[in-house]
Amino acid sequence: MPVRVRIGDLADGEIYPVPELNAILVKLGGEVHAFVDQCPHANCNFSLNGVVEGDALVCICHYGRFDIRTGRSLTPELTGEPLKRIGVRIEGDEAVLER
Ligand code: FES
Repeated sequence: MPVRVRIGDLADGEIYPVPELNAILVKLGGEVHAFVDQCPHANCNFSLNGVVEGDALVCICHYGRFDIRTGRSLTPELTGEPLKRIGVRIEGDEAVLER
């Protein structure tokens, strides 16, 4: 089942949890990104341990940093694994996620 989130409920630089899909949404510069709510380093949840710093999603468990736009790891000394992206499409004023 797809999950719909009103884009107006998303603030730039905040992590919006979508527990039904074990996912998070992050709005950055008007774009909405969706990722699995699990850090690629050692599986901490971004919904509990994540912060957005500029263009990076940071996991405070071990301070892994990931580029929100590309998903790429910015701390290769911790992990070379990228964020796991989830498909999200915009329909009107809603972001629609599906896994
Ligand atoms: S679990 Fe996220 S940086 Fe280690």
